[in-house]
Amino acid sequence: MLSGKTVLIGITGGIAAYKICELIRMYKRANADVLVVCTPNALNFVTKLTLQNLSKNPVAVEEFEVNNFNPEHISYADRADIMVIAPATANTISKIATGVCDNLLTSIACAFTKPVIIAPAMNCNMWDNPLISENLGKLHYEILEPESGYLACGYEGKGRLCSLDKIFDKTVEILKCKPLNGKKIVITCGGTIEDIDPVRYISNYSSGKMGLALADVAKNLGADVTLVTTKDVSRKYNVVEVKSALEMKNAVEQEFENSDCIIMAAAVADYRVKEISEQKIKKTKDDEITLTLVKNPDILKEISMKKTSQIVVGFCAESENLIENAKEKISKKGCDYLIANDISRKDIGFSSDYNEVTILDKNGGMKKLERADKRTIARKIFEEIYG
Ligand code: PMT
Repeated sequence: MLSGKTVLIGITGGIAAYKICELIRMYKRANADVLVVCTPNALNFVTKLTLQNLSKNPVAVEEFEVNNFNPEHISYADRADIMVIAPATANTISKIATGVCDNLLTSIACAFTKPVIIAPAMNCNMWDNPLISENLGKLHYEILEPESGYLACGYEGKGRLCSLDKIFDKTVEILKCKPLNGKKIVITCGGTIEDIDPVRYISNYSSGKMGLALADVAKNLGADVTLVTTKDVSRKYNVVEVKSALEMKNAVEQEFENSDCIIMAAAVADYRVKEISEQKIKKTKDDEITLTLVKNPDILKEISMKKTSQIVVGFCAESENLIENAKEKISKKGCDYLIANDISRKDIGFSSDYNEVTILDKNGGMKKLERADKRTIARKIFEEIYG
């Protein structure tokens, strides 16, 4: 995702400095060249040796270590495509905002003309101090605000470093890396709606958030996206609105032919009402009524049978025996990947902003993605599919 790009990470002296080890690994996995500069205080929280090993580059701390006779702050500023200052302490924020250049990191920041992401992390009272917000407001950087929660200092409040995924995603977005350029990707989204009569229908709790996250991420990564959706969305890509499973099947078949990949995140009804009543069904004196349902076509299975070189990805929604059922489903449906999620949990799956999934592939491989917001899950799914 970041091939050919150089990310310069500036680490300052806060407890969250240890988290940046993982951020370096994320950039390296995405093929970026990673340069690290630390304030002297940062080295109280993380060692130079660790950072060097992970970044595969020397770690810079002090100014005026002569390197090829280039002033270091200028050569670092020239080499990098983006600077990511994380965690950014109140001290470093204020110094940069007022043009103080008393260490290598602040000097580089002063000389840096390309995009900068800054992710502050500090005690909640420091964060609430108007001087810090005033100083932060002076920086024309991409600011990723801290999150609320338990802080290492023992306080509860806003001050935790934002998620590493957020920092990574923002880097990819700013550098406009487009690894999916030239790929046409079809994504289904939302729950199908099966009419009973003019006022009633059968549907499910799908909000469309998972499908939308996949489509947004694919678009950001450069794909030509078509979203086949039961939800009313306005987006800067091709949107095909459908209602029932049969309408979804027609739209998918039409779009699938010229596509490189399809991801079926929609919750498709397995059954529809045999005969939709043209008029509103009246209440009768009987205590029971019977609706006859007929099976809907299995869209995922049908396109998996038709596929040539395309990648077909299904989702698997289960309320019990997730992995066991998903293994059975991938072999029955014949898709390349199946993304299994537990829809009995309230903190993930249906309608939630978060998900936790296991990716199964047709060769028997499995990879669990820990709970994260749906955009992060979506990005990791594309990483898995396209490597
Ligand atoms: O929309 P959200 O609120 O964000 O929730 C996301 C989600 C829970 C809906 C999503 O993550 C998800 O799990 N989608 C798949 C739901 C589903 O229909 O699962 P299933 O196990 O019943 O079906 C397996 C696969 O077959 C799915 O890819 C489904 O789209 C497809 N299918 C199902 C039935 C059918 N008749 N035709 C199909 O193509």
